[in-house]
Amino acid sequence: MHMASFSEQLSPLEWGPLSNARFIDLLAQFSNSKIAILVDENTHDHCLEYLITGFEALATAEVIMLPAGEENKVLEVCFQVWETLTEAGFGRHDLLLNLGGGVVTDLGGFVASVYKRGFAFVHIPTSLLGMVDAAVGGKTGIDLAGYKNQLGTFQEPLATFVDTGFLQTLPDTEWRNGFAELLKHALIADKTLWEALTQIKNIPLELRTETIQQGVQIKVDIVAQDPTEQGLRKILNFGHTIGHALESYYLNSDTPLAHGHAVAIGMLLEAQLSVDQANLSQTEFEAIEKCIKQTYPIQIPNDAEGLWTLMQQDKKNANGEVRICLLPQIGSCLFDQKLTFTDFQHALQDFIA
Ligand code: GLY
Repeated sequence: MHMASFSEQLSPLEWGPLSNARFIDLLAQFSNSKIAILVDENTHDHCLEYLITGFEALATAEVIMLPAGEENKVLEVCFQVWETLTEAGFGRHDLLLNLGGGVVTDLGGFVASVYKRGFAFVHIPTSLLGMVDAAVGGKTGIDLAGYKNQLGTFQEPLATFVDTGFLQTLPDTEWRNGFAELLKHALIADKTLWEALTQIKNIPLELRTETIQQGVQIKVDIVAQDPTEQGLRKILNFGHTIGHALESYYLNSDTPLAHGHAVAIGMLLEAQLSVDQANLSQTEFEAIEKCIKQTYPIQIPNDAEGLWTLMQQDKKNANGEVRICLLPQIGSCLFDQKLTFTDFQHALQDFIA
């Protein structure tokens, strides 16, 4: 089996029930290969049975289970997966199915992209966050020393299968987690989508698959233009410079922030900085503030230095400067904008005051 690479094309994104999708054809292509399914404790309990009872080719698959949670997206856990693959005799022509949210697809993609210099993997995202962001666009990654996604590769999966049936098992917090990335896609590229999202009062009930698809398409279009983040793709990091710092800040605390929640707060702070530094109108800022504050409890430490230290590790930084994304207006985004500590400190103080 030949693995697609970025220089050729982005891999297929298939929407619909797995049983109708080209999933069965793909499994048939691996009929003489070993297949492993990577799950975490949650997808082990809620999603795995559907795969191993519904698809004959998976009845004997090797199941590898990770402990759930971002704190496990680390090298030590990768070692265990690599050892299991080695003991089970996996080789370059075998297949890894990543069945889970962002932690499973980020870590699974990373593990597969370097094991024996790379073997095929497929993402089956089971969370909204995974469907909207993590499983789309070919970034793999794990955290290091408390910093987010410090190790990783650009490697497209063979395909991503999005079966929204998996969302039925999601708790509300997980819906909000993914919703933040949808808001981000709208804020950076599509004011009409933003307006539609702000009308949603009950996220699980009122969020239609077509709206999710619209948000994902924004990401697909951006990644297609700049797969390895040389420029334009950086706008997908709106809210993430501060958001990742918040997520890392609280990672091993009693009050950890989920990725989407941290990004939502990061977007609010980066929108506030956009008012001064990119002429975002006060009216649009207030619309962003209202939407985010009504969906996400605000949790920000009064510790500009601590957050700044974390932001200095951000991958978008250049020449020793922290670089963020700013919104000149809803629906468009600037990347590579320099942020000074003083400006950050003032924004944080205004916010906490
Ligand atoms: N999550 C941002 C990106 O995929 O580029």
